[in-house]
Amino acid sequence: MTAPDSPRTGPDPTPVPPPDVAGRRLVPDLSRRRALQLGGLGLLGLAIGASGWGPSAGLALAAAESLSEPETLHSANGLLRVRLEVAEATVTLGGRPAHMLTYNGTVPGPTLRLRPGDRLQVELVNRLSVPTNLHTHGLHVSPKGNADNTLDVHVHPGESFQYDIQLPDDHPPGPFWYHPHEHHLVADQIWSGLYGGIVVEDAGPQVPVTRDRVLVVSDTTLDDAGHPVHVAGWERMKGREGRLVLVNGQLTPTLEARPGERERWRIINTCTSRFLKLRLDGHQVDLLATDIGRLAEPRRVDEVEVLNSGRVDVLVTVGERTGELQGLDNPRTRGGDGPSGAPGALATLQVSGSPVPALPPVPAYPQLPDLRGVEPAARRTMVLGFDRSGGGHEDHGGGHEDHGDGHGTGGMVMTIDGRPFDHARTDHVTRLGTVEEWTYVNHTGMDHPMHLHVWPMQVVAVDGRPVEDVVYQDVVRVSAGGETTVRIPFEDFDGRTVFHCHINDHEDAGMMAVVEARTG
Ligand code: C2O
Ligand code: CU
Ligand code: CU
Repeated sequence: MTAPDSPRTGPDPTPVPPPDVAGRRLVPDLSRRRALQLGGLGLLGLAIGASGWGPSAGLALAAAESLSEPETLHSANGLLRVRLEVAEATVTLGGRPAHMLTYNGTVPGPTLRLRPGDRLQVELVNRLSVPTNLHTHGLHVSPKGNADNTLDVHVHPGESFQYDIQLPDDHPPGPFWYHPHEHHLVADQIWSGLYGGIVVEDAGPQVPVTRDRVLVVSDTTLDDAGHPVHVAGWERMKGREGRLVLVNGQLTPTLEARPGERERWRIINTCTSRFLKLRLDGHQVDLLATDIGRLAEPRRVDEVEVLNSGRVDVLVTVGERTGELQGLDNPRTRGGDGPSGAPGALATLQVSGSPVPALPPVPAYPQLPDLRGVEPAARRTMVLGFDRSGGGHEDHGGGHEDHGDGHGTGGMVMTIDGRPFDHARTDHVTRLGTVEEWTYVNHTGMDHPMHLHVWPMQVVAVDGRPVEDVVYQDVVRVSAGGETTVRIPFEDFDGRTVFHCHINDHEDAGMMAVVEARTG
């Protein structure tokens, strides 16, 4: 275990939080014109008052909607070929019109269903006025060439790019997702609607279920005209959280089921910063997987944490009575203004009809190996920090933080090992075929969810306490002033890629670094 040699910073550096909404729009001109074409929107806005689209207003409007899922695209004969067009569009979000950035015109974008060994070909077409690109979060695939290459591929306005991603035959099953990875724009683009689910199906024995659902949880804040609001530097520093928390773009949708049915829910937290903790009283919930880490046996849980960008695969055995999927308070130390609030009810599991007979038991599944039995080829420490010099002045969040480009973070630069992200620099070189142990050491007064591309991480210790179970995640919480240790199998794929804080505002502010796995 590494003892950090510089002092850990506790208190938040910026004393006065400005308002979280600066009134600027992320989806500009075109949408404003479209907004004018939407008759009645103004009246609706008046009816719910000046507070905008807060959850309570939306609840009343959207209470009885049943859950809808994004279009699902399945692979066939080992191939899924998709065209994803990134463009502004007016969609229905939380029951009302909203002007968002979309994949193929919907929020979330289509769900991609794959099998181990499949090839995924995506033609990404950029109809925005800024660059974008695509990352397949959590997939164990190559980071090179036209695969999951977030470092070199930038798709400029009006251009398109052909991605070609080969899943290994033994790719673990689970829920994954895709989103843009264009540095400095990631938080804004996800906040504005660019995310979609990926499911890799089980290769082995199937889990008997009545229904298999994908629940994409996202958050954003919309202004009265339905535009995602601009987020000021102070909010970016803390990590923005939206006032609307949505499931598949809906506010508290209803999932209908009969008592005794067994459902499989793939829950994907695409929020730019919000950590979730979920609870479903009155129904049996068994955890099948966290991220890529399928468990050997389902494990009964009362509550389950899903960090932002993380996923869980759960089985819900439907009880006798209607219940709510609750988003509990999941404190995330983010400096200054205390914990984020609980989002409350996210969905309603509505139970009716006569009970159905129980399904057969869930077959055991091969688990990923326990890497604690392997001697690591290297032990590394990654120190998370702030650079407060930020261009010569300390910003106090007084509104001069944007430098005209809309993605300032109050002069705050976020760092790993004292340096902000530089795509041209390779920070760490690992040898393919080895296991390494990394300890993320947090010298800041905020929690950071650290994410590594391509290779999954086995969590072995948190703040010096060993983790007993075999837990694989691709995003891990590193608590304020604390440290989290993982073991990483650098297998199968060589090449350069990144690890970063998945509070996308922190990633955009520089808390990201490059790792390269080399052969030989
Ligand atoms: Cu969701 Cu760099 O990742
Ligand atoms: Cu990722
Ligand atoms: Cu962070």
